[in-house]
Amino acid sequence: MILDIATFPSPVLRKKAVEVELLSDELRELIENMKETLYNANGFGLAAPQVGESIRLIVYDETAGKVGKNPKVIINPEIIQTEGEQIVEEGCLSIPGEFVPVKRYLTVKVRALDEDFNPIIIDAEGNTARIMQHEIDHLNGVLFIDRLPAFRRDTLKKHIKRRIARGEYA
Ligand code: NI
Repeated sequence: MILDIATFPSPVLRKKAVEVELLSDELRELIENMKETLYNANGFGLAAPQVGESIRLIVYDETAGKVGKNPKVIINPEIIQTEGEQIVEEGCLSIPGEFVPVKRYLTVKVRALDEDFNPIIIDAEGNTARIMQHEIDHLNGVLFIDRLPAFRRDTLKKHIKRRIARGEYA
């Protein structure tokens, strides 16, 4: 089932999500629905708060499904090591139509659980590292616009509010 994606300034996008404690049928169903929703939106990543569930769960695919679908799931992720820097244009399914350069770490080491609740360590670099940081931000109520220098952030927020006023957001 394709889920509705919350858009800025929905309050659920600003909440700190809680840890997932139980691998339930309900959780498995949410994961499947999030995969479907991610591909339907041609996204690289989707965090549970974006579909209204304030829990620490992320689905991502660094190819956005363009070279065969290979969805990955991380639960209760934690960045345990970072290195370097990259500035790459970024967008967000919750802020449709806006793409701006965002400064991120070049590599991150992430500790998490996979969709069967097995502990995993991911050494992510470049695009994958950027997706990880963007989606983990979502679990903490942080959006990519918060990562911009103050002047650019304010300009972009005003621009987004004008678009919302014109009814350009879902
Ligand atoms: Ni996003």
